[in-house]
Amino acid sequence: MTDFIAGLPKCELHLHIEGTLEPELKFELAERNGIELPYASVEEIRAAYSFDDLPSFLKIYYEGMDVLRTEPDFYDLAMAYLRKAASQNVRYAEIFFDPQAHTSRGVPFDIVIRGLRRALIDAENRLGIKAQLIMCFLRDFQAEYAMATLLSSLPYREWIVGVGLDSDEKGNPPVKFKAVYERARQEGYLLTMHCDVDQENSTEHIRQAIEEIGVDRIDHGVNSLEDPALVEAIRARGLGLTVCPISNGYVTDSMKADAIRRMLDLGLRVTVNSDDPAYFAGYVQENLVALADALSLSREDLVQLERNAFEITWLPRHVKDAYLAELDAYAAR
Ligand code: HPA
Ligand code: ZN
Repeated sequence: MTDFIAGLPKCELHLHIEGTLEPELKFELAERNGIELPYASVEEIRAAYSFDDLPSFLKIYYEGMDVLRTEPDFYDLAMAYLRKAASQNVRYAEIFFDPQAHTSRGVPFDIVIRGLRRALIDAENRLGIKAQLIMCFLRDFQAEYAMATLLSSLPYREWIVGVGLDSDEKGNPPVKFKAVYERARQEGYLLTMHCDVDQENSTEHIRQAIEEIGVDRIDHGVNSLEDPALVEAIRARGLGLTVCPISNGYVTDSMKADAIRRMLDLGLRVTVNSDDPAYFAGYVQENLVALADALSLSREDLVQLERNAFEITWLPRHVKDAYLAELDAYAAR
């Protein structure tokens, strides 16, 4: 099954580029930028990765990205991810980035986006992997800062396919960003947001995301299963759910494999993604293998997961169809 998964044309839709910063690159960038890390080795960095919920993960995640300072740093970060993803036969990725995690420490927006954009172009030309960017707002910052970030993104509108919402969900419901999302929609961005797993008021947040914000997709969204009305709303609107099994295992009590099985059985457009693979020790291949092991997934299940993913991508219909044809050809072999 591992080989079948390796050959499967794959798609990744829930991936924070800052969460792909591996310890080796962290050291390289620290040296490049004259930053002293409080760790002596790659092993020491990995040993310091201890988290058991979203806030404890986020603390380490934000500390880690301090080494990212210049346009080449962001280029190298994205290029390393795209190389890894291409090696796992990820054919297409929609990549989150957190501009406020950089602008809040003095790195200009244009440095971040230019580095990422240049990597996407080079990766498509050299590696054949296609990707688009989704700009996330940090929900534990004020809505005004999100709005200012949205406005500073407008000169780069053509480089960004949509907006998302991440960081600490507790006390930061979707409706806090209603005006920001309305403006983002007006500017032509597609809309997604995190509804993290097992949060305080999880189901109410999912309801807000669907009904009050009108999202085009939901990141995580596992707790929707607790409310039949939410399941029905997700199905009726054809909303995709970008679920992250190994990540769930770190920040909640389990991978939530049974929930993913139920979503598949209900015909929801559930997908499998890696979230922050440098921290959760698993890219998309490892996530699919872990889930296949936990649920004894069939080949048809695995193909269905990737069909869901390509179907809910933010790509033009004819490009989606080309990837789906590639998937079907693999499945028929
Ligand atoms: N949830 C919220 N914020 C995040 C995540 C996540 O899964 N990954 C990186 N920032
Ligand atoms: Zn995430």
